[in-house]
Amino acid sequence: MTHEVSIMSGKIGRFNKLAGKHVLVIGGSSGIGRAVVEASIEAGASRVTLTGSSAESAARALAEVQSAYPGASARVAAIPCDLSRDSVEADLEALFVEAEKSQAAATAAATTAIDHVVLTAADPLLLVPDLQDLSLAQIRRAARFRMEVPLLLGKVAARHLARSSSSECSLTLTTGGIADQPSAGWSVMAYLAAGITGLTRNLALDLKPVRVNAVEPGFVDTGLWAATEFTAEQAAAQVRQVAERMPTGRAAEVEDVAEAYVYLMKDRNATGEIVKTRSGANLI
Ligand SMILES: NC(=O)c1ccc[n+]([C@@H]2O[C@H](COP(=O)([O-])OP(=O)(O)OC[C@H]3O[C@@H](n4cnc5c(N)ncnc54)[C@H](OP(=O)(O)O)[C@@H]3O)[C@@H](O)[C@H]2O)c1
Repeated sequence: MTHEVSIMSGKIGRFNKLAGKHVLVIGGSSGIGRAVVEASIEAGASRVTLTGSSAESAARALAEVQSAYPGASARVAAIPCDLSRDSVEADLEALFVEAEKSQAAATAAATTAIDHVVLTAADPLLLVPDLQDLSLAQIRRAARFRMEVPLLLGKVAARHLARSSSSECSLTLTTGGIADQPSAGWSVMAYLAAGITGLTRNLALDLKPVRVNAVEPGFVDTGLWAATEFTAEQAAAQVRQVAERMPTGRAAEVEDVAEAYVYLMKDRNATGEIVKTRSGANLI
């Protein structure tokens, strides 16, 4: 009762932990990341910055989010950041600096430090049905988003999160169910997903007291699948098959898995954890 009153009067309640916080979602323009942006706004984050791979996708996402949440328009910013280039570390550094500045301009503060960082940005999955077709160039390309970016993000985020006055900062990475459940043709993705699990636990020590965790989604119906060689019919069939096979009886939607990211930002007791949200895939 007391907390209800304090929230309604605009004060911060015990569970309103994103109030006053600045959340940066790298990959927030679409898919799971976009849902994390919207979930963060609904969970009361004071500032949310999203990134897209291009100026167009970042601007489109910003316009859509502002239209969906007109009351939060001034609290949301979007920054284009292409992470596919060899300048990835400098690009991440520039992103953090820009995120701090752009939100400062909106709020008339000198600088607006980032409190929580979420990484969902990634390029299309590399699936190799016949291992004989796999090349070194493919392996190196696949490593960009699922090995190099998470590691360099840990390095860059460590410096910027230290500027926050909050002692509750976090970095949340994204892995995938393939880390636990092998599937023919998925060797490259299984290797990189399992690597993110190990990286998460180790970064939790390297970045302490910043908390470092990861979300492990199972199948989620997003544009990620459209970017594979699946046809529209194959993609639709996959959603149906997942719904038939999974204990939850449905394919996950981005609104489902976004909750795991919000949880990891809010639980000050969680670090080095991998939160699984997989439709019960672990049970079958
Ligand atoms: N969907 C699933 O079933 C599933 C399951 C397990 C794990 N995951 C993992 O979850 C993460 C998010 O997946 P998703 O399904 O949300 O994918 P998605 O809908 O395809 O979204 C991918 C995001 O990455 C960004 N991105 C792509 N290329 C980029 C680049 N060169 N530079 C910077 N950003 C770039 C996209 O930005 P633009 O739109 O602006 O290009 C977009 O915001 C991935 O790591 C994926 O492997 C997904």
